[in-house]
Amino acid sequence: MELPRHIAIIMDGNGRWAKKRLLPRSAGHREGMKRMISLSEHAFDMGVEYVTLYALSAENLSRPQEELDGLFSLFRKYFAENVGRLLKKGIRLKVIGDLSLLPPDIGALSKEGEEATAAGERGALVLAIGYGARQEIVSAVNQAVRGGKELSQEEFGRLLSTAGMPDPDLLIRTGKEKRLSNFLLWQCAYTELYFSDKMFPAFTNADLDRALASYAGRERRYGKI
Ligand code: FPP
Repeated sequence: MELPRHIAIIMDGNGRWAKKRLLPRSAGHREGMKRMISLSEHAFDMGVEYVTLYALSAENLSRPQEELDGLFSLFRKYFAENVGRLLKKGIRLKVIGDLSLLPPDIGALSKEGEEATAAGERGALVLAIGYGARQEIVSAVNQAVRGGKELSQEEFGRLLSTAGMPDPDLLIRTGKEKRLSNFLLWQCAYTELYFSDKMFPAFTNADLDRALASYAGRERRYGKI
């Protein structure tokens, strides 16, 4: 079965999953974090090299402070409990997004996690936190303008936060909605899309297997015939 080298996941539906169970939204995010850890380990065990997870968009930062504080606590817990596991498994951590929008300690934990796992050669786990694709593109354009010369697509790609990574082969969005929500707009030009009606906390490793099987059955033509 042909496996994607890079999968990206829009982890949507935590809030609705919790609401349906009469739980606070924070319970949905907590379950989402458990799923996220299990799914990414499963993907790496299958042989996927890059897993990019949309954990918080720049736009999500206008959610109520209480929900944001809960998410920030989860990020702290994630870094405290999982960097060691990534290190053992040979997975590098990378954080993309505008860390200046987040509490300073989260930026510091991200940097520490990246440095501790930098030598990992088996794959990369990329967390998009405070991320917005249009913001990323505008920032790259501004860098290019300061450089004062025209760029090729490859040169432009090197100014993005995903520099050095292959583009996603497969993008999965859970939670029923069918949109990109400002995620990896440049990088997903030829990415295969897979939408699941399941809310993220209910998206199992077997569901990921189904998405991978769907990918394996696709014919990628990149605009050619
Ligand atoms: C979208 O669901 C999900 C988020 C905004 C947060 C995603 C976070 C996690 C999966 C857990 C922690 C992550 C890390 C990196 C440790 P939503 O809240 O928009 O759901 P809704 O559309 O049902 O309201």
